[in-house]
Amino acid sequence: MRSAVCPGSFDPITLGHLDIIKRASKLFDQVIVLVVVNPDKAPSFTPEERMEMIRLATADIGNITVDSYDGLLIDYVRRTGAAAIVKGLRAVSDFEYEFQMAMTNKKMYPYAETLFLTTSMYNMYLSSSLVKQIARFGGDISDFVPFPLHNFIYERLTQGRGSFNEY
Ligand code: PNS
Repeated sequence: MRSAVCPGSFDPITLGHLDIIKRASKLFDQVIVLVVVNPDKAPSFTPEERMEMIRLATADIGNITVDSYDGLLIDYVRRTGAAAIVKGLRAVSDFEYEFQMAMTNKKMYPYAETLFLTTSMYNMYLSSSLVKQIARFGGDISDFVPFPLHNFIYERLTQGRGSFNEY
């Protein structure tokens, strides 16, 4: 069975992420969507909340599992035996850093490939941080994040509260 890891902060998952995850799910038998805990970032949502949002957004896709990891991505890939890391590339500005990570991961563990899928034109401009800014100021995020997550994201970002289980 060929599996791939789709890693990211997913703080929160956007329609751009979901597009990449769906397309990866057609290429591999199993796709693990991995919430990576990045110590350099101050996230708005806990890893558990981010995982729960991903589960909801991907509920209709059969071959998805969701996990989180606090360590080097490549160690997780090695441990699970995944054949590839799949990531979305938006603009040229994404490329340099992504290329650097792909090369470094390949050096540390040559048995997995990094595959870049080009983001669809529709999602080209999307980012979690812009979505959070829009939600914080009460803007409409319905074009940017999966529908079942709207209320939870609004509540959390505008009032600093809201438990995921309420939604
Ligand atoms: O959604 P993001 O924040 O762009 O995702 C970046 C992420 C989490 C995939 C990347 O920062 C990562 O792989 N972090 C794990 C730590 C790691 O393995 N660092 C070395 C990369 S060569």
